[in-house]
Parts: sequence; structure tokens; C-alpha cells
Amino acid sequence: MSRPRVHVTGAVPARVAAALAERFQLVDQPQGADGVLALLTTTVDAAYVDAAGPQLRVVANYAVGVDNVDLEAARERGIVVANTPDVLTHATAELALTLMLTLLRRVAEGDRLLRRRGSWTFALEFMLGESLAERSVAIVGPGRIGLATAQLVECLGARTALCGRGDDLAAALADADVVSLHCPLTPETYHLVDAAFLARMRPRAVLINTARGAVVDERALVDALRNGVIAGAALDVYEEEPDVAPELLELENVVLSPHLGSATRSTREAMGMLAVDALVAVLVDGRRPANAVV
Ligand code: DGY
Repeated sequence: MSRPRVHVTGAVPARVAAALAERFQLVDQPQGADGVLALLTTTVDAAYVDAAGPQLRVVANYAVGVDNVDLEAARERGIVVANTPDVLTHATAELALTLMLTLLRRVAEGDRLLRRRGSWTFALEFMLGESLAERSVAIVGPGRIGLATAQLVECLGARTALCGRGDDLAAALADADVVSLHCPLTPETYHLVDAAFLARMRPRAVLINTARGAVVDERALVDALRNGVIAGAALDVYEEEPDVAPELLELENVVLSPHLGSATRSTREAMGMLAVDALVAVLVDGRRPANAVV
């Protein structure tokens, strides 16, 4: 019996590639594939699945966020969509904490100073930062990653306020020293962080984004950072990845990383194996995987 055909939209770790090769016939194009393993850089919209053909039964997204997939189009066509929850929760929360500390303790700024051979000497008032201890951290989007981030910052003595749908966001923003974004990108959260949101934050507060770039209106953020509306930002995700707004590159009160939330070797392997399991569930076992979102 011929093996199900799977198209993979980008390079994957060797262990994942081996698991795929063992179960499936790997094909170069989505056209004619029974399953697609999609990296988040691939837009899987109605045109994509229609071009793939009516035999397409499953899209396994190599990410927890599924904003690159048109879920409605998949639902209408009876295509299962799966994501990679849980296995990246700790790594992503860890990166959110890393960005917070890097920004508050001015580590990247100090690194830039040394690399450009800037002059410095130890002094009691030199490059003072802020501690997380006893600060208030608003977690916008208290899902798995948001809750894990809350746990980590609480270990360092911070207080947390969890802000989900229906919670009083304005009150949380008015009280927060750090606002950390963990919500998925949906039509509802697109540009959630706009000029009005930023104006509600304290002038000494900072914004952390490890969720999706388009949750933040980058133009409004640049204005807020330039004009002292907020004190700083640390970003792992961008509106037009891989492009980064050039203004952000110029600002000392900004820390930037290139979408590294889940970027540890073991996490990326675990995500890939979860995606392979979803493909096997649908294409080999004929069942709906536990991590199906559609
Ligand atoms: C995700 O999974 O959605 C992250 O952005 C990348 O791992």
C-alpha cells in the first residue's frame, strides 16, 4: 500500500525529518499532498489548500500560533488543523522573562556600549536599572504561556495581574510596571496595543512581546517610546517579519530578538514530533489528534 504523501514547507530538525521519512512519502509541492507540515512562515489560506487539492486532509502547523492558517477555510473543506501546544510553554515563558530582565537591567544596552568601545568606569550612579522584585507584571493573555511566565516572575518576587477577555485591562495597565503579551493573534487582538493602550500604561512601565508582532501597532509603539509615553520595550516578534521597523533599531530603550520564543533544540524537536504525531493520527490511524484546533 502506498504511503500517505506529505509536503513539508521548510527545513526541520534531523530527528523530525527521519520520523517523517519513516511514515510518509515526502513530496516537494503541496499539490497532491495528503498532509502538509507547515512552518509559521507559510500562509495556508483558501488558495493554498485549494491548490493542494481535495485529497488534503491535515495541516500540522509547526507552531502553537495558528494565525498563518485560515482556520475557516480548513473547517469548510473538512481539513484537520493541528498545532504544537505545551511542549514550548516553558521555553517561551523563559524567553519572556529573559527579555524582561535584559531590558530592566539594561544588559543589551551595556553590551552595545562595550562593543562600540564607549567609555565607562564603575560608578555608583552608572547605568542603573530596575529589579523585577516587587514590581507588578500584567500578563495579557493568561493561557499556558502567560501562566508559566507569571509563575517565573513570581519566583523573582514580582506581583502578577492576569488579564484575559472580560478582565479590566485599563485597571491592570494603570497598575503595571511590566506588560507582557501572551495572547494569540486574532482579528480581536490585531493592534490591541495601539496608541490608546500605550497611553494607559505608566510612563515608567515597559512592554514585552513574545506573542505575535501584529498584536502591537509598531508605529504607535515607536511614537510612545520616542515620546516617553512608556519607558521601554523588549520584542521577539514583529509586524512584518523578518523586517524590523528601522526606528526600533535606533532606540536604546528597546531590546530585540529574532523570534526565538521556542528556539531551543529540545523544544523544536518536541514540536516537530507532535506535528508528526498529528499527521500519523489523521493519515495513518484515521483519527483526530488531541492537538487539533479544527
Ligand atoms: C509559535 O509556536 O507560535 C511560536 O511563535 C514559534 O514557535
